[in-house]
Amino acid sequence: MGKVLVFDHPLIQHKVTLMRKTETTNKDFRELAQEVVTLMGYEATRNLPLMDVEIETPMCKTTQKVLAGEDIAIVPILRAGLGFVDGMLALYPNAKVGHIGLYRDPETHEPVEYYCKLPKDIEKREIFVVDPMLATGGSAIDAIASIKKYGGKNIKFMCLIAAPEGIEALQNAHPDVDIYIAAKDEKLNENKYILPGLGDAGDRLFGTK
Ligand code: PRP
Ligand code: URA
Repeated sequence: MGKVLVFDHPLIQHKVTLMRKTETTNKDFRELAQEVVTLMGYEATRNLPLMDVEIETPMCKTTQKVLAGEDIAIVPILRAGLGFVDGMLALYPNAKVGHIGLYRDPETHEPVEYYCKLPKDIEKREIFVVDPMLATGGSAIDAIASIKKYGGKNIKFMCLIAAPEGIEALQNAHPDVDIYIAAKDEKLNENKYILPGLGDAGDRLFGTK
């Protein structure tokens, strides 16, 4: 079973609380999303493999460490996942970025896929699927299934806020995927929104409501 890691560093908790507040503006929400995801990306990559390299400092020759691992792909689930891309690219400027377009049907709450474009060499990359919200888990489950169809193997899912129902569903559907979250919330309401949550992440990022 994949690991579920709650990144509850005080800075992350503080910024997520600001994001939850109704009065937080779209501009501040966007900036906070970038800051939180950079902090989460830092934690999420704590165990990336290193290798030795010989270098020369102005003082002498020395053996030091550089990253040895696979290259990284960041895959936001459109559209709210877009709010996480710049924060991850701040850490990994050479990462490739794929996109998966999904929206939840407002009646059925089931995800509907409308777009998928991934890096050609996705099978060789360490993949971070990013989306602020894991509610029922339907969107994350379908997005990861699409990535696997194109050969993606080494997949991690990163979100801000997760409901227990979504975590369980994602773990059951993709037990090989580690889940990184900033906050685990209480439950879903009757419209499958997370409580206490932060509302509609896409609308709050892009000001569409
Ligand atoms: C939101 C969110 C996730 C999804 C989570 O997107 O960004 O993708 O809902 O819900 P689930 O776990 O129940 O699938 P939404 O469908 O509102 O689309 P949007 O990003 O285009 O606003
Ligand atoms: N999508 C959101 O944007 N927010 C929720 O609480 C659930 C799904």
